[in-house]
Amino acid sequence: MEQTITTTKTKYKTIVYFICTVAALGGLLFGLDQGFIANALQTIEKVYGFGIKGGELYSAILATGGIIGALLSGIFARFLGRKKSLVFAGFIFTAASAYSALLPPIAILSACRFALGFAVGVASFIVPLYLSETAPAKIRGSMGTLFQLMITIGIFLISVTNVFIIKFFTNPATSLPLMFLTITFFAAFMFLGSFMLPESPRWLMLKGRKEDTINVLKKTLNTQEEIDLEIKEIEETLHGPKGAGIGIIFKGYFFKVLVVGILLQVFQQLVGINMMIYYAPTIFGYAGITGLLAMMTVPTVNMLFTFPAIPLVEKWGRKKLLYIGAGAMFITMIAAGIAFQSIAGVTEPSMIGGLPKMVLLISVIVYIFGFAVSWGPVVWLVCSEIFPLEGREVGMTITTMVNWTFAGLVMANALTFMQDHGNASIFYVFAGFCLLSIIFVAMFVPETKGITLEELEFNLKSGKKLRDLGNH
Ligand code: BGC
Repeated sequence: MEQTITTTKTKYKTIVYFICTVAALGGLLFGLDQGFIANALQTIEKVYGFGIKGGELYSAILATGGIIGALLSGIFARFLGRKKSLVFAGFIFTAASAYSALLPPIAILSACRFALGFAVGVASFIVPLYLSETAPAKIRGSMGTLFQLMITIGIFLISVTNVFIIKFFTNPATSLPLMFLTITFFAAFMFLGSFMLPESPRWLMLKGRKEDTINVLKKTLNTQEEIDLEIKEIEETLHGPKGAGIGIIFKGYFFKVLVVGILLQVFQQLVGINMMIYYAPTIFGYAGITGLLAMMTVPTVNMLFTFPAIPLVEKWGRKKLLYIGAGAMFITMIAAGIAFQSIAGVTEPSMIGGLPKMVLLISVIVYIFGFAVSWGPVVWLVCSEIFPLEGREVGMTITTMVNWTFAGLVMANALTFMQDHGNASIFYVFAGFCLLSIIFVAMFVPETKGITLEELEFNLKSGKKLRDLGNH
C-alpha cells in the first residue's frame, strides 16, 4: 500500500483510491436500487399484479425508507462513526435484497424495499461525508463525484443484468428472484469491503482521538508536513462548538447554507430525473419506442456522461456545470413535451411516425447528459462541502431527507400525472423547475471549487454573502 499514484500535480497513495472506491460502493448500491425498477417493473407486475398506482407506490417506498435512513444516519454518523455506519448499511442491503429474492407476500416485499431505502438513505448521507472528510483536499471534488459515478454505474449495471435475466429466463417466478440476487451479490461485497476502511480522520478528531487520527493520516498522506497541516486545520475548526444538535439550524450563518443545500436537493429532484430513471421504458413505450433502445438509453447515457463530470467539477467549477446542465435539461424537456403533444390523439403507439420518436429520443439523451454532467454529482458534492464541521451532520441529514422526499414525490406521481393531465404536461412542469434552478444558482449558490472546507467555514462565519463564500 506504500506505492504511489502519479497525478499531474501531486502523488497520492494507492490506499487513498482504495478507500474512496470501497466507500463509493455505497453509491453503487444506491444505484442498483434506483435503477432496479425500470426494467423489472413488468416482471414485478406479472408476479404481483400491482397496476400503475401500485407500481408507483412500490417504487416510491424506497424513498420513504431513504427519508428515515437519512434522518437516523446523522445519529449513526455521530455516535457509531462513519465507518461502522457504512458496515451497517452494507448489512441491511444484503439482508433485505436476499429476503426479497424469496418472493415474500406483497407486504413483506414492500417492507424489504423500505429497508433497502433505509440503507440507501444511510449510504447517501455517509458516503459523501466520509469521502469529503477522508480524501486529500486537492482531489476532494473528484472523489466526491465518485459517489455519483458509482450511483450511475449501479443504475446501468442493474439495467443490463435485468435485460439479460428477462431474455434468458422467461418465467417471472425465476427471473424476479435472480434480479434481487444480483443486488444481494454487490451488497455482500460492500458489507465485507467496508470492514477494511479506516475511520474518517475528522470524526476521530471530533471524538478527541488524536493518535488514531494521525495513524489514518499516515496512511493517506505522503509527508509529515502534510499530516501536521491537516491536523492543524482540523483542530482549528474544532475550537468552535463541537457536534451541534438540531438547534444549530437557528443560527443565522447555518440557516443560510441550509436553505441553499435544501433548495439544491429540491431542484435536483424537480428537474425530473427520477421520472426518467424509473419510468423511461414505460414512457418510451407510450411513444412506440420499445426494446433495448427503451430499456438501455437512459442508464447508458447517464453513466457515460458522469465520467467527464469528475475532472470538470474541479476544472470548470460547480456552478458552471449546474448552468450547463439546467440549460440542456430545460430545452430538452420542452422538446420532449412538444413531441408528446404532437402525438396526443394517437391511441395506437405503433402508428406513431419517425419524427416525434426521433425528437423524443434525442431529447431524452441530451436531457440525461445535462443531468449526469452536472446536477447529479454537483449537488451531493456541494452539500458535503458547505456546512461548518460542527453542523455538517445536521445539514447533510436534512438535505438528504429533502432529496428523498422529493424523489418519492416524483416516483409516486409521475405516471399518474401523465395519465391525468396528458403525457406532455409533466415535461413542461419539469422544464419550469429547470428554469427556476438557473436563477437560484446565479443568486445564491457559492462556487466551492479549490477552497478548503476550513476556509469556506471561516468565510461563512465571518458573514460573507452566500454567493461569495468560495472566494479566497
Ligand atoms: C439522484 C438520484 C438519481 C440519480 C441518477 C442522484 O444524484 O439523487 O435521485 O436517481 O442521481 O443518476
